[in-house]
Amino acid sequence: MPVVILISGNGSNLQAMIDGMNRGEIPIEIRAVISNRPGAYGLQRAAKAGIPALVVDHKQYADRVSFDRALRRTIDTHMPDLVILAGFMRILTPDLTEHYAGRMLNIHPSLLPEFTGLDTHARAIAAQRQEHGASIHFVTADLDGGPVIARSRVKIDDTDNAESLAAKVHAKEHILYPEVVRLYAEGRLSCKDDQVFLDHQRLDTPLDIS
Ligand code: GRF
Repeated sequence: MPVVILISGNGSNLQAMIDGMNRGEIPIEIRAVISNRPGAYGLQRAAKAGIPALVVDHKQYADRVSFDRALRRTIDTHMPDLVILAGFMRILTPDLTEHYAGRMLNIHPSLLPEFTGLDTHARAIAAQRQEHGASIHFVTADLDGGPVIARSRVKIDDTDNAESLAAKVHAKEHILYPEVVRLYAEGRLSCKDDQVFLDHQRLDTPLDIS
């Protein structure tokens, strides 16, 4: 399945996807990696893997609408069946999310619907949660609010701080995201009317891939 991956930074989730693809575990062809930040380390990861590494710099555009138009043009040049947001730190306009409805995934570092937005690790600790984790969801206009497909849990220890917790969650993300992309690429996942379907059965609760 042709995919395009959007990043803004380090790209460790991108790397997990590249590795899974190269090992033959995920039936995808990464046609391009696009970053909104020219210095994103993930661009080097893509180039090293022989994948076109492109920049659509949001600072070059007057507003969100014109940036999203340019982004969409660049994505669609590569004709992906799936767009994977992997640490892509831009809020997308409803026009863009509508265009990719049911074929755009995002990873968020919390057990959604808890802790949408930023600083999730520190917020989970401050709220004295015993568990935290990461979630994969279909992207809708609702920020971090689209239908959740799967989650991965970690235990919060008394000794954890935001940094140590982030590291634990990251390690889980690298298993969770490739697994969900594999299911999608095998044609087993879909989204209709804000509901997730796995093998044509409606998913009542997100999959637990811990
Ligand atoms: C991940 O923690 C992901 O959940 C969040 O951004 C981070 C990206 O990390 N959306 P990386 O760039 O894949 O290393």
